[in-house]
Amino acid sequence: MYSVVFLLAVLGASRRAADALDNGLALTPPMGWLHWERFMCNTDCDRDPNNCISERLYMQMADVMVKEGWKEAGYEYVCIDDCWSAHQRDDQGRLQADPKRFPGGIKKLADYVHSKGLKLGIYADVGRNTCAGYPGSQGYYETDAQTFAKWEVDLLKLDGCFMDWTLLGDGYMYMSRVLNRTGRSILFSCEWPLYEWPYHQPNYTVIRETCNHWRSFTDVYDSWSSVKSILDWTASHQDIIVPWAGPGGWNDPDMLIIGNFGLSHDQQESQMALWAIMAAPLLMSNDLRDICPRSRALLQNRHIIDISQDPLGRQGYRTAKVSARGDTEHGRSPERQLVTFLADKFEVWERPLSGGRLAIAVLNKQEIGGPRGFAVRSAPGWKTCSPQCNVTQLLPRYEELGIHTPQSDTVISVNPSGTALLTVTPVSGDSPRGWQDSSSKRHDIL
Ligand code: GAL
Repeated sequence: MYSVVFLLAVLGASRRAADALDNGLALTPPMGWLHWERFMCNTDCDRDPNNCISERLYMQMADVMVKEGWKEAGYEYVCIDDCWSAHQRDDQGRLQADPKRFPGGIKKLADYVHSKGLKLGIYADVGRNTCAGYPGSQGYYETDAQTFAKWEVDLLKLDGCFMDWTLLGDGYMYMSRVLNRTGRSILFSCEWPLYEWPYHQPNYTVIRETCNHWRSFTDVYDSWSSVKSILDWTASHQDIIVPWAGPGGWNDPDMLIIGNFGLSHDQQESQMALWAIMAAPLLMSNDLRDICPRSRALLQNRHIIDISQDPLGRQGYRTAKVSARGDTEHGRSPERQLVTFLADKFEVWERPLSGGRLAIAVLNKQEIGGPRGFAVRSAPGWKTCSPQCNVTQLLPRYEELGIHTPQSDTVISVNPSGTALLTVTPVSGDSPRGWQDSSSKRHDIL
């Protein structure tokens, strides 16, 4: 009924031997919460006290993170984005929080967040102003680094608005050095490559030495088209950006918007699965005080978080894409090991994991009709499954799919704009339970 496409295994990928920023942080992709996508620049605390950018918002988020399992799941940074500061620096040239919205000041807020066993992130801009027009750090890098260290902040997101692009690199490198010089461990999140791409290909060697994670593409919005555009950009630049991800430094495709308004549950699963495959920072921007139980369970899914946080620290690649005409375009990834599918408009992404394991995401990009099947079969020489491997499906639901051999295949059903997420673990041994046997009772779609 369907034809099966084989991909050849190409193992032994070459790695760029780049040094990460030497601050001992972000050995796995950072996890936490960041206000921007959900709360933006809402400063109207008179009319909207619950949702305005104020100390109360971060304190409430920290409370919920402890009470409702977020901290336990690994989410630890509570991050302030733009619009926290006063419009003027103080008389000594230091940034200061807006006194009405942050009456206790940032140091007190940091103390509160720390008392919950969490960490506090803050936002600044390498240029004259922040993107929303608040004071920028240009000319004040050292002062601002010291201020943040004194406040005992744990993460700095440095934006790149209002800056001559030829000075971006110098600004980011300078801020990285002065942050290190404060002696406080401050995770450094950059948007440097995003602002350089319009002019030339950024130098990721230096970016990796300077930043713990870096944005290369535009802001995420609360929509499936936005998530898709981020995936497309990442896949079409993967040969340039993926090799630079690893312990200490990560590509940042922007915030998780799971739990908001714009994504169906299948699309939320796709974002979670693909962000884990991309070894992306897991910074949620949602309202944890009011989130539906399914979204919460997805964000706290420990199997998916394990993929995200895998100690090998390799980012995955899109390894195949089938167009509407049924043509298959293979990623040139040296990591590609497998797979195969039955129909057009599927994408396959693969991430190598520790212990010779592999994570595979199969995304159904057809946004019409119902669930569609795809077949998985080992490529000849697919080492992970030779002689056999154990396959576990994590999404759309957890299921142990049993033993797979180079001869076996199966069909898995994926909803429109949903993703099937699998892990594959090599097994040695000689009398496996057949994949075919176990698959027949599982997959009733065909
Ligand atoms: C954008 C940035 C967003 C957010 C916003 C704040 O440039 O990409 O993530 O920080 O500025 O004004």
